[in-house]
Parts: sequence; C-alpha cells; structure tokens
Amino acid sequence: MSEYLFEMRNIVKEFSGVRALNGVSLAVRPGECVGLCGENGAGKSTLMKVLSGVYPYGSFEGEILWEGQPLKAYSVRDSEKAGIVIIHQELMLVPQLSVAENIFLGNEITKPGGRMDYDAMYRQADALLARLKLKGVNVAAPVMNYGGGYQQLFEIAKALAKNARLLILDEPSSSLTSSEIDVLLSIIEDLKREGVACVYISHKLEEVAKVCDTVTVIRDGEHVATKPMAELNTDGIIAMMVGREIKNLYPRSEHAIGEVIFEARHVTCWDITNTSRKRVDDVSFELRKGEILGVAGLVGAGRTELVSAIFGAYAGKSTAELFMDGKPIKVKTPEQAIRAGLSLVPEDRKRQGIVPMLGVGDNITLATLQHYSHGGHIDKNAELATVDREIKRLRVKTASPALAIAGLSGGNQQKAVLTKMLLPAPKVLILDEPTRGVDVGSKYDIYQLMFELAAKGVSIIMVSSELSEVLGVSDRVLVIGEGHLRGDFVNKDLTQERVLAAAIDAKPQAA
Ligand SMILES: Nc1ncnc2c1ncn2[C@@H]1O[C@H](COP(=O)(O)OP(=O)(O)OP(=O)(O)O)[C@@H](O)[C@H]1O
Ligand SMILES: [Mg+2]
Repeated sequence: MSEYLFEMRNIVKEFSGVRALNGVSLAVRPGECVGLCGENGAGKSTLMKVLSGVYPYGSFEGEILWEGQPLKAYSVRDSEKAGIVIIHQELMLVPQLSVAENIFLGNEITKPGGRMDYDAMYRQADALLARLKLKGVNVAAPVMNYGGGYQQLFEIAKALAKNARLLILDEPSSSLTSSEIDVLLSIIEDLKREGVACVYISHKLEEVAKVCDTVTVIRDGEHVATKPMAELNTDGIIAMMVGREIKNLYPRSEHAIGEVIFEARHVTCWDITNTSRKRVDDVSFELRKGEILGVAGLVGAGRTELVSAIFGAYAGKSTAELFMDGKPIKVKTPEQAIRAGLSLVPEDRKRQGIVPMLGVGDNITLATLQHYSHGGHIDKNAELATVDREIKRLRVKTASPALAIAGLSGGNQQKAVLTKMLLPAPKVLILDEPTRGVDVGSKYDIYQLMFELAAKGVSIIMVSSELSEVLGVSDRVLVIGEGHLRGDFVNKDLTQERVLAAAIDAKPQAA
C-alpha cells in the first residue's frame, strides 16, 4: 500500500502545441490538504482537470496512481467512482434547474422504481445548506434567482453531497465573504479529520496558510517547490509564485477628487420570482469625479443587483433616477448605459462577460466595434493594434489574440473583460469583483490601473467581497445590507470591523 492517496508523475499536457504542463508531479496523503499556488495561467486548473478526468486518460502524458494503482479515468464519472470530486473554478450550475436539482445533478435520489424523490432531495439540500450556514434559500427555486456568492456555496454543497475521498477546490472562495470562507475552511478541517484529502487552489493566500498542510507552487507549467506550510508564510508563497517580492499590494496614489459627476437616486430592484420582495430598497448615492467608491456587504446584500440596475442589466424589475453631469439620463439597457458614459465589468464573467468561442481579440473589441468600422468595413489593422496594445498593457497571457477566450486561464479571462470595458472610455467605470480569481501580481496591475484611471478623472465604483481590497483602494465606502444602504464612510481610519458591523447591523451609520 502506498502512503499516498494519489500520485501524479511527470504530467505533460499540451493544447494545440502550447505546453500547459511540462512534467508536473504531485503526491497527496489521506487527510492532507495541499495548497496549489501559482500565477494566472501557471497550469493549476489544467493539472486538476487531468486528475479528475475532464481531460481523459490518453490526452496527456505521465502517470496517475490512486492508492498505488494506475488510475485511468476516461471521464469525470470514472474519477468520481474512485472518489475524486472537483469544484471547478467556473460555476457549472444549470441556471434553470432548482437549487436542489443542481445539488443532486447526476447524483439524484430516487424512489424504488426510479422516480425522483424530491422530498428527500429537498430535505438533504436543506441540510447541506445548513451545514454551510446559508439561510433563507428556497431549494425548489431556480438557481438563477441567486447571485454569485450563493451559487458558489451551492457548488460546494453539491460536492459535499458526493462522498469524496479527494476534494479538489479550484478557487472556491472567490465570491465568498470572510465569514463564509471561515465556514468553508472549518468544513475542510472536518473532512481532513475524516481522512479526506484536499487540493485547495486559491489566490487568497491567507486561506491557503490557514487550511493547508503543504504548499506546492507551479510556474509556467513546471513544478517550483513543495514545502510544509509550517516552514512558510504568505510572503514566502508569493516569492515562490512570482519570483519577485511585492511589498505593498495597494500602490495607492493621491488623486484629486472633483465635483459630483454621477448620482443614483432611489435605486430599487425587485426579486425576479418573488416580485413583492425588494432586493435593493431605495438606495441613493453620489459619486465624484476621480473618486473610487468601494461597495461592501455580505453575499446576497444586493450589491450586484444595485450595480446591474444602474447599468440597465438587472434581469428583474428595477427603478432608479440617474444623473450624469447633473443631467438626468435614461438607462434601460447596457447599450444606453455605455452611451451615457457608464461601463460595467460583471461579476459573472462566464455568463455575461465573455463570448467563449470568440477569439480573445474579438472579445476585447466587442463593446467598441463601431470605433473600427468605416462605411460598413471593419478596419482590421486598427482593431488588431488596439488588441495588441491592451493585451500588453494588462499582461493578458494568451498564445495569440485569435485563440478562443475559453482557452484562457480564469484570471486572464478576467483581465480581457476588464480591457474590453475600458475601451469605451467611460466616465464611470463599475467593477463587480474585479480581482476575482486574479493572482497577486495581476491584482497589483489592476489596482495600479484603477489609480491611473482615477488620476485621469475616471470615477470608479468597485463591488468587492474582500474587505482588505475595499479598504486598500477606495476613497469612500458604501455598505449595503439586505438591500439597504447601511453606511457611507470616508475611507480614513476606517477598519474592517467597522464596515462589517455596518453590514450586519440594521441601524444606518455615517462617518
Ligand atoms: N482549453 C484550452 N485551450 C488552449 N489553452 C489552454 C486551455 N486550457 C488552458 N490553456 C492554457 O494553459 C495554461 C494554463 O492554464 P490554467 O487554466 O491551468 O491556469 P491556472 O493556473 O488555473 O490559472 P488561473 O489562476 O488564472 O486560474 C494557460 O496558458 C492557458 O491559456
Ligand atoms: Mg485556474
């Protein structure tokens, strides 16, 4: 018997000539949690897709042993039979199906005779969500009624419903708030005690430091190092990842803040299915020229609904009075919003941000095609020049601008979407979880870009679940709780505790 639950040896994986993995090895013991770290595009997700049969046996080189025996998974089903369960970086839920149906998809509970046992599935789905301390979810309602944070927790519940012996979590916490992450980490601790092994991929290195026993770093498809967490701290992981030290993640630069440029009054959004319920209730705020406004709150507080309503992209009913430069603007669709000078980088990149099968370049210029079209012809050279410049500016890692964007790593897709929404040169740029799934080095690049834009007079609204990020970049912070404005703070001597207190407490607070 091997001391390892699984061993991956010298894995090589190529995509049409591009080597994503170049001889990576990884071995994990039962009950061990290994943190898999590396920059965007390093090959983390690819390595785990190899292990879990997404890339079937035969489509890569190298060897995988499961309890000392060769593992040949031709599909995800095969690897699940062995006890490998993966939570993918990109959400895989079916929006139209109910929460419970998604949790038990492919793993349905049936009655004798084969009919679905909805009662049992609802009961168990409720129990799983209770374990995740998630309240107020109707498990019979379609998944699309719930925002990104909820959906991430549904994915986790779905994984817990299967009896995993190895649980792979690929960026499981990118849209969770700190209290939800704590719940997740404590569940992982429980699983470890039961002998379940975990591979934990996250760009949030504090989580890695908390829950992982060992850390493996890969860079450009090669193994850099594997070390016990006891010998490391987060700075040590960063140094191994990027090969350079990042001293201050928030390169805050002083920028002038001008007059009020944008105003939203009485923004109200109604729930899509339960139309008597308000998801956002009469929220008003002002935004000044060159100001960076952070929007904080717990998952489900209504932050994404608020910004999508302002951008004309909220799926349900919403009302708002909006003003740009003191003049009322009418925004019923994203096109109108862009014309009025607004731009939004959405939270749900996969569903709203990208057209997966189009090239990276085509995705980048999608919102500004009219810039390159003259009398019915598209000036391809001008378009390509812009694409090249933007790819360099944000260091989007892609083999070519023509590569389908679906082939980019998660963090690089995010950078491409950011670029796309910057090209219309907005007066007000709205970023919903802009650094979700983005590595430390690229986070730094994105913050620097935000400060540059602010210095040029662009106003920015940034929704973020990472409080350290909100406090690190914002000039002012709005706190939303249960659809209400719970606080409007100048970011001076502001603490995470104060913001959290406002998010939880029903009493409105002011700075
Ligand atoms: N289906 C694909 N087609 C072409 N190239 C791909 C495909 N999937 C991944 N790649 C390439 O393989 C490399 C590794 O990607 P991978 O998604 O594994 O990175 P990652 O470490 O998970 O990054 P991130 O932190 O951004 O999620 C990248 O250069 C990526 O562009
Ligand atoms: Mg990845």
